[in-house]
This record gives sequence, structure tokens and C-alpha cells, in this order.
Amino acid sequence: MAGEKLLIKHAAELVTCAGAAPKMGAAMADIGIIPDGALLAENGKISWVGPTAELPVRSEAEWEVIDAAGQCVMPGFVDSHTHMVFGGYRAEEFFWRLAGTPYLEILERGGGILNTVQATRSASLAELKAMTLGRLDNMLAMGVTTVEGKSGYGLDKETELRQLAVMAELNREQPVEIVPTFMGAHAVPPEYKGRTDDYVDYMIKEVLPAVVKQGIAEFCDVFCEQGVFSLAQSRRLLKAAQAMGLKAKLHADEIVALGGAELAAELNACSADHLLQASDAGIAALGKAQAVATVLPMTAFCLRESYARARTMIDSGAAVALATDYNPGSCFSHSIPLVAALAAIQLKLEPAEIVTALTINGAAAVNRADRVGSLEIGKQADIAILGYPSHLFLVYHAGMNIVDKVIKQGRLAWRKSDQK
Ligand code: NIG
Ligand code: FE
Repeated sequence: MAGEKLLIKHAAELVTCAGAAPKMGAAMADIGIIPDGALLAENGKISWVGPTAELPVRSEAEWEVIDAAGQCVMPGFVDSHTHMVFGGYRAEEFFWRLAGTPYLEILERGGGILNTVQATRSASLAELKAMTLGRLDNMLAMGVTTVEGKSGYGLDKETELRQLAVMAELNREQPVEIVPTFMGAHAVPPEYKGRTDDYVDYMIKEVLPAVVKQGIAEFCDVFCEQGVFSLAQSRRLLKAAQAMGLKAKLHADEIVALGGAELAAELNACSADHLLQASDAGIAALGKAQAVATVLPMTAFCLRESYARARTMIDSGAAVALATDYNPGSCFSHSIPLVAALAAIQLKLEPAEIVTALTINGAAAVNRADRVGSLEIGKQADIAILGYPSHLFLVYHAGMNIVDKVIKQGRLAWRKSDQK
């Protein structure tokens, strides 16, 4: 397909997700559906959206035409929280947890994240790239057109920079747009055991400046958690990162209610993520803050923890995004369909809210709501076409990948018949 001139017509349902971004509270249920919808894209950007009957095209000859009869056309998914660049796997750990050993205890013993750190430190750039490319291919097949990826399995300057370099190179070599986040404060490495403040100093004085000089990362994230990085340490690091031009994200209140949600609001972070244990005050703070509340239900599912109170967050006026948290430990899955099913069944979100959370609000969580996440004139033509006539099937066809075609910047990037 040329990519220059794309025409999609007769979509049973064209879901635009148009409007102000991020969508907060009740606005999340408004996804701007156009029945029998059509769309034009030129040079990778959307140039027209409306009912097929009003398509402003006389001759289709110069257009690549997709007839989406019986299908739902919607914005490509934005997976705004993953840890997709890693070496090694931790299959045994999954079953230790099910047998009762807590996630943080495994980490405290030098396993968990630190196990992946060893494997990632010993992997070359080429090895990490090849593995990550395979993962991106699978994400694309699930309709993901933009994905955030974090470093944080190096915990030293060299490996953190290598993880970021992997993302920068892959950004140029395959269709899924990658948003790189520096997460050197993901755990305290063995060299710094018992000296967390010294490790934060090392991050601020040596690693952050090198990351900024490398010029790849857009965000800085921190695992603000009991026994990992305290509120004070997280604040110190994120303020330093913001002063150097990075935007802030936080792994907040995932396992213990430390007050990470409140810290995200205080720091004007772009997102506060996880929030399984966020307090009433934390949820109220997010309802008033800029920060997108990013909820990751597959992690709660895989850790057998209780789910984040996403319903309360939306009812308090927050902008909620949904993402996978794909990583080799707490959530080894990047299944958008499973996220959607859990969001409906366990978080009690409406299907329209789920669509918003996976598209425009995900885009806002990675500071790209002006470019992706909705089907509106001027936006990038990043589109998922579902093999069923409405967005309801995302939840209803539980756990199934119902994506039929994926368009990235006006080009057909994946179709079901390509599936191996
Ligand atoms: O989002 N909580 C910290 N980080 C990841 C897990 C990373 C890992 O277990 O490797 C998370 O759950
Ligand atoms: Fe995470």
C-alpha cells in the first residue's frame, strides 16, 4: 500500500475518540461514534472523517481503498506502560508467587527484577534488539501503534543507555512508535545494597546527565515502593530529572500505599501508574491533577492482588489510561484483549471508557495526545480495524485478538492474513 492516499469507508462503526485530551471523568464515556463511517488519510495524516455518504471524493482511482463493512475502525492502541527491553525470563518466579512468596520478598532476596538485571547486563545490543523486535511484532498484531518502553534492567550507566539505544534504533526500523522512558530507579542493584541514597545520588550525578546527553529518553520513572525507593528519594530523583528536561512518571502505590499518587499530583507528573493501593486522598488528588491515572489490571491479575479502584478514579474526575505493564516478572503479557476484559469485568469500566483509556488517554500519558490516540483531522493515521462491527466485541470476545488490520501513518502495517 502506498501510504500517500488512504480511503476507508463503510465502517459499521467509526470510533473517533475526538475531543479534549485527556478525557477526564464522565467525558471518558464519549467516544464519538460515526455509524457507516469513512476516513481519508494523506501523507500519513487524517484529512477527513465523517459518514460514508458525505465522503468528499469523486473518483476512488487514486486512493488505496479499504472497505470496512461489518468492521469497527478505531484509533490504534497506545500501550503507555511496558518494560519490553529485557534479557532472560522468570517463569519459576510466577509459581513461587502463586505458592505464597510475596513479590517484594523475592526482590529483597536478590531475585525478581535483579534476576532480569543480570540477564540484561550480559545481553548485547544486538541480542536485546532482536528480542524486542519480536515483541513489537506481536504488539502490532494486537493493534498497538504506539508503545512506551522503560529501561530499568541495567541499573548501571552502560546498560541503561543500551536499553534506551535499543528503543531508539527500533523506532527507526519497524512501524510501532516507541516512547522511551529512563527508569534507572527500578530497583537498587547489588553493588548499592543498603545504600539506596547513594544509588539515587549516582543516578542524579552520573546516569541522568548521560541519559540526557544521549538524548533518547523523554520520561523518567521510579519504583516508589516500600523497601525500594521512598517518597523522599523518588521526589529527589524526579525533581532532578524534571530540571534536566525529562517528564515524570511514577510506579505509585503498587504494593503498599506509600502516597505515590499524591506525589505524582504534587510533581505535576505526566502519569501515576499501578495505583492498586492508592488511598482515598491519593485518588482525590489524581481527580484534580494533570497526571493520567494509568491502571494495569493484568499485573493485579498475575500477582493475584486486588485491582486498582479505577471506577472510583473516573467517578472522581480523573483521566484513566489502561496499559499492559508487559515485563518478565509481575506481568509477562502484552495482551490488549485481556486488559480490556479485566477492565470491564473486574474494574467495572464501560466499554467506551475502556476504548478511551486504551487510546486518547494512553496518548496523553505519553505526551502525544496532540498527535495520536484519536481519529481527527490533522492527527496521525494510526488505526486499528476490528473484525467485528463494534467496540463492544473488544470485551465481549473475551481475551481474543479481534484486530483484522493495523494502519500506521496511513500505511497498512499488519493484516490478519499475515499472521504466522
Ligand atoms: O511494573 N514494579 C516494578 N516494576 C514492574 C515489574 C518489573 C519486574 O518484575 O521485572 C511492574 O510491576
Ligand atoms: Fe511497570
